[in-house]
Formats: sequence, C-alpha cells, structure tokens
Amino acid sequence: MAPPVIAIKDLVKTYDGRQPVLNSVSFLVDDRDFVAVYGKSGCGKTTLLNIIGGLDRPSSGDIAIDGMSIIGLTEDALATLRLEKIGFVFQDYNLLLDLTVRENLELPLRFSKKKDAGRVGELLEKFDIADIADERANKISGGEAQRTAIARAMMNNPRIILADEPTGNLDDENAENVIEMFQLARKEFGTTIVLATHDPSLASHSTKRIRLMEGSAELESQG
Ligand SMILES: Nc1ncnc2c1ncn2[C@@H]1O[C@H](COP(=O)(O)OP(=O)(O)O)[C@@H](O)[C@H]1O
Ligand SMILES: [Mg+2]
Repeated sequence: MAPPVIAIKDLVKTYDGRQPVLNSVSFLVDDRDFVAVYGKSGCGKTTLLNIIGGLDRPSSGDIAIDGMSIIGLTEDALATLRLEKIGFVFQDYNLLLDLTVRENLELPLRFSKKKDAGRVGELLEKFDIADIADERANKISGGEAQRTAIARAMMNNPRIILADEPTGNLDDENAENVIEMFQLARKEFGTTIVLATHDPSLASHSTKRIRLMEGSAELESQG
C-alpha cells in the first residue's frame, strides 16, 4: 500500500523558551484528501503549514512526504522538494503585480527550466482566468487574483497544495468560488489539499478536519 501523502508524528515547535506553539501534533493525510486545519488566530496554523512545506523546521518529531522523512534534508534538498511536490497559496495572493496573469503562470516554468507544453493555456481555462490572461495582476479583482495564484501553484503539477487562509481577503461568494477551485484541483489533477483557516464554516468542505488548540491537534472528522 502506498504511504500517506503526509505523515506527521509527535511534531513539536517551540520558539526560544516559550510554551510550544505545536505540542505533539500527529495526523495523516491521504492521497486526494482535502484537509482543513482550523483554529483561532495564533494557534499555529501558519507554523504547521510552513513546516510541512519545508520552509521552517520543527523542534522535534517527524514529518514524511510520500513516505520520506524531510527532517534530515538540507536546505537545497528542501528547495527541490518544494519545487517538485508542493504548491503554495497565500491570503494575499503573492502575485507579481507588474506582470500579467499569463506571465505569473509562466514564472514556475522558469524556475523548473521547463517549456510550456500547453500547461499555461490549460490552467487558464480550468481556473476560469483565460479572459483576463493579458491583464496585469494589479488590475484584477481579489477572486481573480486568488484563482491566478491557485493556477500558478498548479503549474508544476504538485502533489500537495498548502493554502494559508486563502479566502481571508475575499467576500463569501468569492471564497466559495476559491474553495470550488481547490476541489477542481483535487478532482481533475489529483492534488492533495491542506488548507489553514480560522473559519470553521470553510472546514465543512473538507474530507478531514484538524482542529488546532493550545498546541495540540485533534482530528474532528473524516469524510
Ligand atoms: N518566528 C517566530 N518567532 C517567535 N514566535 C513566533 C514566530 N512565528 C510565529 N510565532 C508565534 O507562534 C504562534 C503561532 O503563530 P502562527 O503559526 O502564525 O499562528 P496562526 O497562523 O494560527 O495565526 C503565535 O503565538 C506567534 O506569535
Ligand atoms: Mg496564520
């Protein structure tokens, strides 16, 4: 049987001498799960996502991606892992504002030194941003910007998307639309989604809910 996409075991993160931000967090993420990590502001959601994505390191515990522990990896190996397996989506979109929507999607190709074999066009269509492909990113709406950011995160066909409060700057209608885009990524491309939110109502779209509270995690549901 294939190992879980993400296996987190007894993860602890402490910042110098303070109470642990994450205190023995353990859970598994399976292929094509849509995991909602939720909890109040300050409960450690961003810290957890950054550790999963290899942007930060835990104080102790283990985390494995596709069965391989990332704990001992060098910075270079973590950078390669991110490039090949992980797409990031943020609350404030992180687009390059002077570039067009299309150029933002082309950026990951430059880093991975790949040629566009039709991927940009495919994702512009799938994520419903083909009509604004030639608009600059500073001219588009929040909902369009987040769809662009999701499409960009999908360019290298990542195994996992880590989305940190991706609907935090959007109204309800656009938030709903963005959640549908993550479902589309799961269903059409087989991407596994881990989404952090302080909004429990968003968590209802997930296959698993992980509630972070005072440093520990509780698996609340499995759909
Ligand atoms: N680099 C850091 N140094 C010290 N404390 C930090 C650092 N990053 C986050 N924290 C603290 O860790 C806790 C969790 O933060 P965070 O993961 O951003 O929570 P959330 O994303 O759920 O709002 C907060 O108390 C925050 O102040
Ligand atoms: Mg956060």
